[in-house]
Amino acid sequence: MVCLGNICRSPLADGLLKAKVKNEGLDVFVDSAGTAGYHVGEAPDSRMRATARNFGVPIDNLKARQFVAQDFQDFDLIYAMDSSNYNNILSLASSAEDEAKVKLILNESHPGMNLAVPDPYYGGDRGFIEVYELLDEATDVIINNLKQ
Ligand code: 4NP
Repeated sequence: MVCLGNICRSPLADGLLKAKVKNEGLDVFVDSAGTAGYHVGEAPDSRMRATARNFGVPIDNLKARQFVAQDFQDFDLIYAMDSSNYNNILSLASSAEDEAKVKLILNESHPGMNLAVPDPYYGGDRGFIEVYELLDEATDVIINNLKQ
């Protein structure tokens, strides 16, 4: 799960998918990262942590890290939150195989629409709830695909 800062959107996507993987008893490793390094080592944004806690998916223990080229070796699927993250991730790919791993996460729930998970960082509380709703829906589709 990859966004810009790894403190708002991707930590929630990470927490939601981890909870669903655990619930289904699947053996799938889930992690998250940011394409930028400004917040490396920080816990998720307090507003995102509060929203996640309210929905029963605590993400307090995550620490932000930056996406690195090695992630293409370590992961089979890489979900970008918006097209800017998507393009930044692709710029680190070194093969067509790497490129094929990268997907826009909302194309799981809204195929072919290339929608972005809106960045809630500079907005109000409603933005965090909207992010939750979008990512809950998308991770439901992802978990169903992983179960196949
Ligand atoms: P995220 O949100 O990419 O969902 O973690 C942001 C966090 C921090 C910044 C921008 C977006 N920032 O500019 O510091």
